[in-house]
Amino acid sequence: MHESSFEKARIFLEQYKSEMPSDRPIKVLEVGSKSYHDQDTYRGLFPSPEYIYTGLDIEAGNNVDIVPANPFIWDEIATSSFDFCVSGQTFEHNPYFWVTFAEISRVLLPGGLTLIIAPGAGPVHRYPVDCWRFYPDSWAALCTLTEMELVECYFETDEMSAIPGGKWRDSCVLARKPHLSEIELERSHKRLEKLVALFRDEHVRVVQSNLTPGKGIKAYRAEMARKSPLTLRKKIKTRLSSSDRIHSF
Ligand SMILES: C[S@@+](CC[C@H](N)C(=O)[O-])C[C@H]1O[C@@H](n2cnc3c(N)ncnc32)[C@H](O)[C@@H]1O
Repeated sequence: MHESSFEKARIFLEQYKSEMPSDRPIKVLEVGSKSYHDQDTYRGLFPSPEYIYTGLDIEAGNNVDIVPANPFIWDEIATSSFDFCVSGQTFEHNPYFWVTFAEISRVLLPGGLTLIIAPGAGPVHRYPVDCWRFYPDSWAALCTLTEMELVECYFETDEMSAIPGGKWRDSCVLARKPHLSEIELERSHKRLEKLVALFRDEHVRVVQSNLTPGKGIKAYRAEMARKSPLTLRKKIKTRLSSSDRIHSF
């Protein structure tokens, strides 16, 4: 992962740790936890015995403890069972991220916190697909949908683009599952169940779309090359040289 994403998680944890239990280990779930190319995950932020860390991913691998049978609905995880849920560089790869956010809301304990970090820009990078980019109001919509309390959200501005990983224009949210009466909590969980129901009945899988240009794209590119030849040629050259490099996400 890029350095500024790790730093966001580290600093948010530092700021919000006082809201987490201090009389027992803090239960942490990382969503999209697989480690690639020996890159760090957030696991290092949660040493035992202070924390009990569980990594969840749709693919088995390094740093993955749970691969849910259904990638969108986690029957393996009990309702109200985690204090903190963190996810980075993963929501953009999830075709139905709102279902995952609803599951995060379900598995958090009342008062539990979630930190989601996802890009607001950057090139296509498929793990195994690349579907979305996020803005501050994306989080407001997700929190409204799932009845989570939005505590704070962020978007990496132009001035921050020079920091390591700044090209991804990370967006992030810190949200809390509200403390509710028993009756209200049950109602809220039933509402979440309705929200994800479609994804329980049908396993809706998404495959990579075809990037081979058709006649529309070819005509568009030709027209733009005719209108601004120098600018376009320069941009394509830069893009080609950068696409040879492995993306550090
Ligand atoms: C770009 S990798 C990021 C991995 C790690 N978080 C990091 O920053 O180094 C995205 C990860 O999201 C996982 N993923 C994609 N869709 C997911 C889903 N619906 N639920 C959980 N993980 C998912 C992929 O398998 C992949 O491991």
